[in-house]
Amino acid sequence: MIAMLRVENVWQRFGTLEVLQNISFELQAGEFVCLLGPSGCGKTTLLRIASGLLKPSAGRILFNGEPITAPRPEIGILFQQPNLLPYLSTRANIELPLALRGVPRTERRRVAQDALAQVGLAEFGEVYPSQLSGGMAQRAALGRALVQNPAVLLMDEPFGALDAMTREYMQLELLSLWQRTGKTILMVTHSITEAVFMADRVIVLTARPSRLGAVLDVPLPRPRRLEMVHSAEFGALVAQLRSYIGAPSS
Ligand SMILES: Nc1ncnc2c1ncn2[C@@H]1O[C@H](COP(=O)(O)OP(=O)(O)OP(=O)(O)O)[C@@H](O)[C@H]1O
Ligand SMILES: [Mg+2]
Repeated sequence: MIAMLRVENVWQRFGTLEVLQNISFELQAGEFVCLLGPSGCGKTTLLRIASGLLKPSAGRILFNGEPITAPRPEIGILFQQPNLLPYLSTRANIELPLALRGVPRTERRRVAQDALAQVGLAEFGEVYPSQLSGGMAQRAALGRALVQNPAVLLMDEPFGALDAMTREYMQLELLSLWQRTGKTILMVTHSITEAVFMADRVIVLTARPSRLGAVLDVPLPRPRRLEMVHSAEFGALVAQLRSYIGAPSS
């Protein structure tokens, strides 16, 4: 079976700084994979490479078996900061990728309205980004990524800036969207528990220069529920990841 996204022997250096060393892994269609690693190890760099925004020093990325040389609509990327344009309404922000591609206005409206509904902002299209809460802004950014109907969504710590309760809510919303749409997701996170809660599989990067440290399958049943974090099985998976990373066991 050809992988939906394949990272193949990727190396990245910036001048004399060695960031990524020979990273390889695959995402199968419909998988939810989390990428975990210490700050500065190269997670964002790897996501930028996987999206086609950055050409790696060596190695390549394959989408459905085809090498990627530039960003493409089938691969959406969501950054840690929502990066909404403050002078455009939420709706106009979400329509922007379509407007840039020259999609006609009525079609844009229809797709954007659907994306607004998908991310729970159907009533907030006319609101400006400064009037959105942090979680709503992040949902708007997700809506903007969804209008291109990407098969693969690359997400860079999308909930990092949110408070704990909003974060839990957003995790559940994202899982439900993922199950509804069947997208393939690669999500970067700092959080071991978030990785176990969300993922089918967790890929661990070592400290820089970063190599593939470990890969852990997460056989917890779906749909995931918040109570699962208290189960012994969940605890064991978290402990295993901690031992790979060498983090304190508190
Ligand atoms: N364009 C660039 N030019 C030079 N160095 C860069 C560039 N982009 C990233 N780096 C360096 O590469 C290393 C990895 O950065 P990256 O942002 O990928 O880390 P990260 O794992 O996402 O960290 P964090 O968890 O803090 O977000 C850092 O040392 C950073 O300074
Ligand atoms: Mg980063």
